[in-house]
Amino acid sequence: MSDKLIKNTPIDDSVVKNKIEQSGLEKVGLASIRELVRLVNEIEKETGEKYIRMEMGVPGLPPAQVGIQGEIEALKSGVASKYPMIEGVDCLKKEISRFVKNFINIDVDEKNCIPTVGSMQGGFASFLVSCRRDIKKDTTLFIDPGFPVQKMQHNVLGLKYETFDVYNYRGDKLKAKLEEYLSKGNISTILYSNPNNPSWICFTEKELQIIGELATKYDVVVMEDLAYFAMDFRKDLSKPGVPPYQPSVVHYTDNYILLISSSKSFSYAGQRIGMMVISDTLARRRFPDLKRFYKTDEFGYSMIYGAIYSLSSGTSHSAQYGLAAILKAVNDGEYNFIDDVKEYGERAKIMKKIFTDNGFKIVYDMDENEPLADGFYFTFSYPGMDGVELLEKLLYYGVSAIALATTGSERTEGIRACVSQTSRDQFDDLEYRLKAFNKHHS
Ligand SMILES: Cc1ncc(COP(=O)(O)O)c(C=O)c1O
Repeated sequence: MSDKLIKNTPIDDSVVKNKIEQSGLEKVGLASIRELVRLVNEIEKETGEKYIRMEMGVPGLPPAQVGIQGEIEALKSGVASKYPMIEGVDCLKKEISRFVKNFINIDVDEKNCIPTVGSMQGGFASFLVSCRRDIKKDTTLFIDPGFPVQKMQHNVLGLKYETFDVYNYRGDKLKAKLEEYLSKGNISTILYSNPNNPSWICFTEKELQIIGELATKYDVVVMEDLAYFAMDFRKDLSKPGVPPYQPSVVHYTDNYILLISSSKSFSYAGQRIGMMVISDTLARRRFPDLKRFYKTDEFGYSMIYGAIYSLSSGTSHSAQYGLAAILKAVNDGEYNFIDDVKEYGERAKIMKKIFTDNGFKIVYDMDENEPLADGFYFTFSYPGMDGVELLEKLLYYGVSAIALATTGSERTEGIRACVSQTSRDQFDDLEYRLKAFNKHHS
């Protein structure tokens, strides 16, 4: 007998069931984000019911207006007909360099501040160089949980990777765990996001120091993915040139590449522009093994005139001017981007409470001794169910998300919820649906 007949689920269960069957997905709970998006779109279309859409990390706020204005002016001036410089237009490079000085307190030459087609491309290009610079170091270490697409990029490139879930190795314990991997000598690159997608943990200064010092000791490149730049709303990281700054590994090693996305912090995902910032020291370094793939053995040169050139010949011209305008306003203290996005933290606080009031538990909940920040994502579970099963069940209750099992997390009971697409006027619906779920399953 169907769930609906027994329990009267908020969404017509025969439609959900049919759509799941038609999707051809072996296990809907293990579907990729985009597969779930498609499935839920179809259920919504057929039932006319609006889901609480928490599966995809897409900004739910309007784009930074100053960027749009910058792009319009650039387009009117005729940039659309011209190829942009691969290394980026001067005004943007200057503002990126100012931005990292103002918000991370680090000096990087404009030369090594490079626009990319989103951080997605910045990551791909970095893998093409960082993971091929030493024939003996052919493996990336993901400090998980993480963004599944970066592992897909590894698969597409035929690159090897290893991973561990950092949940049980916070604080001092991180050192021994990292050394276990690094001492083998095969790791080229360490990758993590901070704040972390999906768990929203934020590394402490102590943890960043451990990562940085070990990266130097074992000559490993740290790719620090700052897709949610300054979005740890527990601290005010929004003032240019004033501490506290966005915490970063840059203070503990010269072996770093920063990937700074404009998608979430500036709600600029559609324009596909991000920033890659390579440490001046690393950019200058020579790695003879790079010559297997590039004309030169210099790290920074290979990145720009090897990897980024062959991927897309640079980044859309008008988007570069748009981002330059945003960064200039931010650097000059005229635009406080955090004011625009801290709504995510406020939503998360309320949504987490709706979940915990209805029998759910928060999975990743602490940064060492400090409660986790409220931000773009949170993770939850329901007693007695694994995440894959829970995700499928929640579809009958009009709630969609992704299973932590797809993110390298060992907390397979968990689910990642993204708050960005749930507006405040849906909170009553969310509450009603979770109450029904809890009533039927407790
Ligand atoms: C951790 C992480 N890295 C990278 C990206 C991709 O960023 P972009 O939109 O700049 O390509 C995302 C997007 O969700 C992300 O969560």
